[in-house]
Amino acid sequence: MSYECILTDVRGDAALKTGVITLNRPKQLNALNDQLMDELGQALLAFDADPTIGCIILTGSEKAFAAGADIAAMAKLTHMQAHTRQYISRNWEVIRQVRKPVIAAVAGFALGGGCEVAMMCDILLAADTAKFGQPEIKLGIIPGAGGTQRLPRAIGKAKAMELLLTGRMMGAEEAERAGLVSRIVPAATLMDEALAVAEQINGMSQPSVALLKECVNEAFESGLSSGVQAERRVFHSLFGTEDQQEGMDAFLNKRKAVFTHR
Ligand code: CAA
Repeated sequence: MSYECILTDVRGDAALKTGVITLNRPKQLNALNDQLMDELGQALLAFDADPTIGCIILTGSEKAFAAGADIAAMAKLTHMQAHTRQYISRNWEVIRQVRKPVIAAVAGFALGGGCEVAMMCDILLAADTAKFGQPEIKLGIIPGAGGTQRLPRAIGKAKAMELLLTGRMMGAEEAERAGLVSRIVPAATLMDEALAVAEQINGMSQPSVALLKECVNEAFESGLSSGVQAERRVFHSLFGTEDQQEGMDAFLNKRKAVFTHR
């Protein structure tokens, strides 16, 4: 498949490899237009369906992960056009359908829709150059791809309110302290670190990986009781896999587990 607004690559030489998607509209700081979001959706679904791929990494350039939705493309939209085209939902929710872990490797600006896309990913690794923010308020709008929901869940109400209401950006250190990112790494090693995390996950039992991701998302999206119940059902079901027997036998016999993902 050839794309115009993204690049795709497959990395690694183990049985399960890592799919890498790089947002690539450098002149517009990777501003997210319909074409880019369509291509991103296609690439994510293609990697998700590919049995040789374990994790997916989503990244941008040194200067910008993505500077938000494309302001030029939406500046003249009317209310009805925004509504009938389902602007910022038609092709923005695909990332949530992906069953494999998606790692956002963020350097530079992750603003507006760029921050929202990063927050839709499962693990957010930040370069020390990363800057996060939801500046939509300065454009006379509000976030439209989950920012008002995911940011407070990630960093708490007071800090989210401040960032959302002022449009202030926060750097990588503040984002890590606030719990938005899992780790900060030097910009020069961002991709190596993301690939190392992906490789570690690729070596785990893949049924457990997919179901674990589902359970953590349940924690984010439901109440405690239904989340705990969902977790318990998944926990019980994993005793039906060969990987559970292998993993526990390996531990008891002091050897490394070799998973067959069944
Ligand atoms: N949409 C379209 N074009 C954008 C863009 C965006 N979101 N962000 C940057 N660009 C373009 C600029 O217009 C500029 O193009 P030209 O060279 O043709 O003038 C080019 O990218 C480089 O940008 P700057 O010259 O502004 O670069 P800078 O280093 O001085 O500033 C920046 C960088 C702080 C990120 C600044 O570009 C900026 O503030 N961008 C807009 C950020 C923003 O408001 N994002 C939210 C968008 S709305 C949204 O995302 C809604 C939603 O919830 C989904």
